[in-house]
Amino acid sequence: MRYLGLWLGWLLLLLAVPCRARRMREPPPPTAVSRVTPVEHWLRVKLNQFMASDTRTFPMRFYYNDEFAGENIVIDIGGEWEITSGWTLGGLPYDIAKQLRAGLFYTEHRFYGKTRPFNNTEVSSLQYLSVHQALADLAQFIHYIKSDAFERGQFKSGKVVVVGCSYAGSMAAWMRQTYPHLVDVAYADSGPVLAQVAYPEFTTVIIRAIRESGGEECLSRIAMGMKQVKDLLANKTGIAQLSQIFNICTSYETFTDREVTDFLMILTSPLIDIGLVSTYLKLACAVLTNGTAPHPVQRLADLLFALNEMPCMDLNYTNILGWFRNTSYDSDASEDRVWIYQTCTEFGWYQTYTSEHEPYFPSIPQHLDYYLQHCRELFFKDFNEERVRQGVKRTNMMFGGLTHRPDHLISVAGTHDPWSVLAPNASHGHTKSPVYVIPRATHCQALRDSRRDDSQELRNARKAVLDFMYENVYGMTPLSGATHTEATPVLLGLAAAVQFLH
Ligand SMILES: *[C@@H]1O[C@H](CO)[C@@H](O)[C@H](O)[C@H]1NC(C)=O
Ligand SMILES: *[C@@H]1O[C@H](CO)[C@@H](O)[C@H](O)[C@H]1NC(C)=O
Ligand SMILES: *[C@@H]1O[C@H](CO)[C@@H](O)[C@H](O)[C@H]1NC(C)=O
Ligand SMILES: *[C@@H]1O[C@H](CO)[C@@H](O)[C@H](O)[C@H]1NC(C)=O
Ligand SMILES: *[C@@H]1O[C@H](CO)[C@@H](O)[C@H](O)[C@H]1NC(C)=O
Ligand SMILES: *[C@@H]1O[C@H](CO)[C@@H](O)[C@H](O)[C@H]1NC(C)=O
Repeated sequence: MRYLGLWLGWLLLLLAVPCRARRMREPPPPTAVSRVTPVEHWLRVKLNQFMASDTRTFPMRFYYNDEFAGENIVIDIGGEWEITSGWTLGGLPYDIAKQLRAGLFYTEHRFYGKTRPFNNTEVSSLQYLSVHQALADLAQFIHYIKSDAFERGQFKSGKVVVVGCSYAGSMAAWMRQTYPHLVDVAYADSGPVLAQVAYPEFTTVIIRAIRESGGEECLSRIAMGMKQVKDLLANKTGIAQLSQIFNICTSYETFTDREVTDFLMILTSPLIDIGLVSTYLKLACAVLTNGTAPHPVQRLADLLFALNEMPCMDLNYTNILGWFRNTSYDSDASEDRVWIYQTCTEFGWYQTYTSEHEPYFPSIPQHLDYYLQHCRELFFKDFNEERVRQGVKRTNMMFGGLTHRPDHLISVAGTHDPWSVLAPNASHGHTKSPVYVIPRATHCQALRDSRRDDSQELRNARKAVLDFMYENVYGMTPLSGATHTEATPVLLGLAAAVQFLH
């Protein structure tokens, strides 16, 4: 079963602790096709982008692939993860750069990966973490790339395209909206643009995705497993059985409410992941409907162990808090801690469960408070619901949520992506700013490597993105076929000529 976890290394939870807020890892890099080795660069950006008198700076990391570099710029925006060079070697951002004869850049978000304004993640350091600061970093970055200081001014009069998926997709949309004078075109994949405190729709979409792509049987196995788990939680004998099946580190006679909640949080985490990666659903359902495994609850355990490299399941709250309170960048939980800070202060997006009677994701008492407690225990002693509401309100006030859509932006969403509810849908799109909704597509699927079994709608959306980029950069419709990955040298030559005339 380990194979499943290794193969899905992207989702592998390194920590056998309940995940406070689901953070995206870097999407698995696409198949490398570039023959160029991208170069790692650093740019010193302002620590406080909004205070001129504060002159402190920190180094922001980025990768640069110059394979196609003419004068245009394609920036693949890094989200809440450490960037690797792989995303400048293939995939849709690479295809866009190829088509536009552009330099391809991949930037790292402040406080993630190696882009560290401070050598710790203490609250006093994290005060400089916000999406507004990160967007301003990108503005400074674009300004630099277009200056004489970079490649002797090669990109001075080029067009700027930004691309991103997930939170980085939200950032791509917000870049075009906030800095229209710096960003000419944006492509946002699976980017939620509405901040919201509790997010129960998240699990609703996952259940629908499992029903439609995995089948009724898979779903009923989950319900059976969860029912069994609830029954076992009722008494000592049951808890002993659960401890054995799930390999819980310490032996418990009873669980406190918190231990029950943490246990269920860990147990449902593989189900949440089902909504995030298309290829995973079939495999997960194969494990869940396995005819050879004796009990439904055992299948839930099988699924969990397939995705986790955990020696044993630690429900000790002191230990759990210790992970997330650790302010060292050497701690495995450091990026989770940083992302939790952003959810507490800016976005919410707490994946609460819909109803007490919902059979797939067992209800958890005072679920929102469970999340708020983390904001309190990790960052602010006096944190409460009002604080997170104010943060969310401010984010929506600054960006407009779903009420305002900038032009020259193309968005893509999948109906099986749990984040799609907070992202634009077909009714938000307009001619200068289209939205593609792909049936049954999951999170970031358009941006990821194409596969032989990709649906026609998914292929069409990828082509639409390339065509949109071409039209918005060159001011004309591409010749049919000119935008494919396998564009012939003749057509690329034409693109170069068009650019020369531009
Ligand atoms: C962290 O940074 C502070 C000041 O910025 C410095 O004094 C300290 O030595 C650094 N610690 C480590 C472990 O690098
Ligand atoms: C524990 O709960 C199970 C299922 O509800 C029940 O069958 C069993 O008799 C209970 N055992 C004890 C010791 O109460
Ligand atoms: C099915 O369950 C059996 C027994 O637990 C196990 O050996 C086998 O690997 C499982 N197969 C899958 C696909 O999970
Ligand atoms: C939790 O672990 C700590 C050590 O990390 C230990 O001192 C404490 O007793 C444990 N708590 C429980 C309830 O087991
Ligand atoms: C934080 O994590 C680092 C790296 O794992 C570890 O060396 C350090 O002891 C931890 N600090 C605390 C206070 O637990
Ligand atoms: C799009 O989202 C809005 C909520 O923002 C919703 O009211 C509307 O029904 C959705 N339209 C479609 C076509 O899904």
